[in-house]
Amino acid sequence: MNSYSHRHSDINDCRFIDLKTIGHSNGRLTVMENLAVAPFCVRRVYYLYDLPAGAERGGHSHLETIELVVALAGSFDVVVDDGHNVKRISLNNPAKGLLLPAGIWRTLDNFSSGSICLVLASEKYAEDDYVREYSEFKKLTAEKE
Ligand code: TYD
Repeated sequence: MNSYSHRHSDINDCRFIDLKTIGHSNGRLTVMENLAVAPFCVRRVYYLYDLPAGAERGGHSHLETIELVVALAGSFDVVVDDGHNVKRISLNNPAKGLLLPAGIWRTLDNFSSGSICLVLASEKYAEDDYVREYSEFKKLTAEKE
């Protein structure tokens, strides 16, 4: 892990972005265009589904990767932690994306049955972009001014 490039983010930087949505009586369509919605270019998309009751995902921070999280179906919570403050954010609207800057410890839980969590990421997958030990994360964020 490259601790020198760990970002110092604030939980208040974790914010909802309204996604362009076209709705009418035949249903709704939501669109995400590169750079038009989130402040990063999308290099990777993944999604979580088939989540059993009580599942907990995440439990890490990223050194560089910025993510946009969308509850495509159902609902779940994202608990965000900047090393100093913690906030629980509920997602249940496919027309809103939650922006997670780098340097935020995140845990996803409280998944409703059949929920789908879509994630758009600014970087390709790289294990060395992860901080997976909470004690390491606390050390990195303790250096915050
Ligand atoms: P992880 O990011 O820890 O999952 P979550 O945060 O949803 O709990 O990844 C779980 C596993 O999947 C881990 O072995 C890494 C692998 N993985 C990839 O290979 N590519 C990816 O883009 C992601 C997100 C994970």
